[in-house]
Amino acid sequence: MSSLDEILLRLSDGQFHSGEVLAKELEITRAAIWKQLNKLKTMGLVVDAVRGKGYRLQQPLELLNADLIMGHLLSGTKAFVTELNVHTEIDSTNRFLLQQQEAKHQSGQICLAERQTKGRGRRGRPWVSPFGSNIYLSILWRYEQGPASLAGLSLALGLAVTRVLSNYTRTGVGLKWPNDIICNDKKLGGILIEITGESQGPCTLVAGIGLNISMHDSQSSDIDQPWVNLKDIMEVEKISRNKLAAELVEQMVVILKDYPERRFSFYQKEWQEQDIMYNKPVCATSASGNKSGIAKGVDSDGNLIFQSDDGLQIIHSGEVSLRLQT
Ligand code: BTN
Repeated sequence: MSSLDEILLRLSDGQFHSGEVLAKELEITRAAIWKQLNKLKTMGLVVDAVRGKGYRLQQPLELLNADLIMGHLLSGTKAFVTELNVHTEIDSTNRFLLQQQEAKHQSGQICLAERQTKGRGRRGRPWVSPFGSNIYLSILWRYEQGPASLAGLSLALGLAVTRVLSNYTRTGVGLKWPNDIICNDKKLGGILIEITGESQGPCTLVAGIGLNISMHDSQSSDIDQPWVNLKDIMEVEKISRNKLAAELVEQMVVILKDYPERRFSFYQKEWQEQDIMYNKPVCATSASGNKSGIAKGVDSDGNLIFQSDDGLQIIHSGEVSLRLQT
């Protein structure tokens, strides 16, 4: 464990820790402790320093912990997990898994981070990823079949999230085509799938989920759309991010492991039940402009069925995004 992680672990209880004791325990100088505390500040954490008492985090934190997450997994799922890493800070959990050497592409590799410095969203947009407040989770899966057999998988994975969240809240969490997690017209999370490999297979897929849990307004100034935290809509007393991460892994694995056999048609009905846009007037935006119409659900490959003045149209997810007409 790095000295930064060691300090974080100690401070995560929200209690005061003296600089002297920290330096002794970590066998580094007090100047080195001070440097790491400054690093925590640059990561957005508020560190109180009080003479005679030491340092504390203004807000106690439940840090993500690989052993705790593994401990929450059912044994059936554990068998599919080949590696599970938690990073204090990384550019992007999706990028980390995708850029490993191909020889290491083995299904069931999982990467989580407390903070992403270059979190990736759909359509090349950034995913704002402040420290310790949300979930950033990616899973790598290897398929012998080509990407065509994975059509609609990013939509199906939205169901992994709604299945988990149904245990936390009944206040209308739904899905917006193709893969936004929405509550009361605000974004709660999103899914980004990235695929490398041959068109006829084999291919490697990385599925990443970002879920807002307790992000502070001050951390979200770069988000350009209405958003919401799970903390603000949940009906349970407390959220354990470790337990929630394990529940997401459970449901993602269930869907990933036999997707080419099941395909989207297996999930179509469940997806339609979560579709917040169904039969609503929407505007579809792509590089070629905006188009108004009515959303009519999804077909058996997860494409959007869109009714406009030109008739019924099938829209592939690629570079299109959808919003309700106001
Ligand atoms: C979207 O634009 O709605 C998709 C957002 C996906 C964000 C997640 S966070 C974990 C994983 N790593 C990334 O860089 N992006 C995804």
